[in-house]
Amino acid sequence: MEINKSENRKNKLLFPSGFLWGVATSAYQVEGGNSNSDWWQWEKEGKADNESGIACDYWNRYESDHELLSELGCGAFRLGIEWARVEPEEGKFDQEAIEHYRAILQDLKKRNIKTQVTLWHWTSPSWFQEKYGLHKKDSAEVFVRYAEKITQELGDLIDMYITFNEPMVPLGQGFLAGSFPPGFMNPYKFICAVNNIAKAHRKTYERIHQIKPDAQVGITYLYNWYESEGFGILLNSINRLAQWYRIDLLGNKIRGFQDYIGIDYYRLGKIKFDWRNMKMDSRNQTYFGFTIEEDKNNVMKWISYPEGMYKVLKQASKKFKLPIYITENGTPTRAGIDDDDRIKYIKEHLASVQRAINEGVDVRGYNFWSLMDNLEWLYGYEPKFGLIEIDYKTLERKPRRSFYEYAKICKENAVDIE
Ligand code: BGC
Repeated sequence: MEINKSENRKNKLLFPSGFLWGVATSAYQVEGGNSNSDWWQWEKEGKADNESGIACDYWNRYESDHELLSELGCGAFRLGIEWARVEPEEGKFDQEAIEHYRAILQDLKKRNIKTQVTLWHWTSPSWFQEKYGLHKKDSAEVFVRYAEKITQELGDLIDMYITFNEPMVPLGQGFLAGSFPPGFMNPYKFICAVNNIAKAHRKTYERIHQIKPDAQVGITYLYNWYESEGFGILLNSINRLAQWYRIDLLGNKIRGFQDYIGIDYYRLGKIKFDWRNMKMDSRNQTYFGFTIEEDKNNVMKWISYPEGMYKVLKQASKKFKLPIYITENGTPTRAGIDDDDRIKYIKEHLASVQRAINEGVDVRGYNFWSLMDNLEWLYGYEPKFGLIEIDYKTLERKPRRSFYEYAKICKENAVDIE
């Protein structure tokens, strides 16, 4: 794609022609009924605020949800494939489930919407978790077999592959903090899992390219902006360590195996040190004295920081020298209120994206997280991330005002600013 420098008109920020506007979801968070996944088990053990159950029932309602996508007028949809659904038993693929995904992808193609498919968004089949787990040596091969199958069966309908979504998040939570499956607090297993995910990604990258030489394959990074306060050198080093942990630890192991960089940017992580708080409590973002400053007005206490989006894009562009897709960006709100915060958030963050593009950063597309309210992992259904509100009793969909604001942005390829 040719990136033209975007120009500003009074009160309007224009984006380059061909800029890919999208929205993102993940399989487990919206599909419902993923009873063969390890998260399902985790929920049953009472380790998350809600059980996912039928979730948004996207699995059965995809056509009417895609109808809303068409109304939104976006050019791309990021969705996931649930590994446990297509391979419910080791080595036995469920052809019916694969055909169902085929119908989903075909429906998107029919609507002229590009498909960005995540192969692993934090959930694994229960059999995989029991027999292998990412810390075990053979886990990479088992994942590659699944990725290969999906490419053979559905590759013709996939425009962009995301092998793993933000792997450092579930690895940290699942192998160091113990709050995600498999629930370990074991640095040795953690390192093994990081190496195995890197290996699985590299091999998957190669396999997909053997089958589909022109495929676009990458991973996404949770690329929030970190800053620190007080304690000078110590906190600065912690700050750097956070950056290294989130991006470089895995990123350095998969250099040369990414066709683009997927950036998920949400917020500012302002690191503080509090010696009175020496516990490990990842739910409340407390790591042996190090905590993250909170915005009390936000339902998940997240600090919105649009400037960070600009900083992250500049940094990632220098570091990776690859085209960038913003694969997720969004903010949690409370039920029924705060949608104005979402609109403000979108516009302010897009202003930062446009600023980076004008300074030469090769950003090809932007996905808002999320199309609809969905299961927010440990926090269940309380935080609302959607342009579309879901009534979980009736599963009725109700587009919010932000839906129409974002639709306007997609259609005009521009953002109105005050
Ligand atoms: C994850 C999503 C999650 C979102 C909001 C992202 O880092 O990819 O699965 O819902 O953050 O927390």
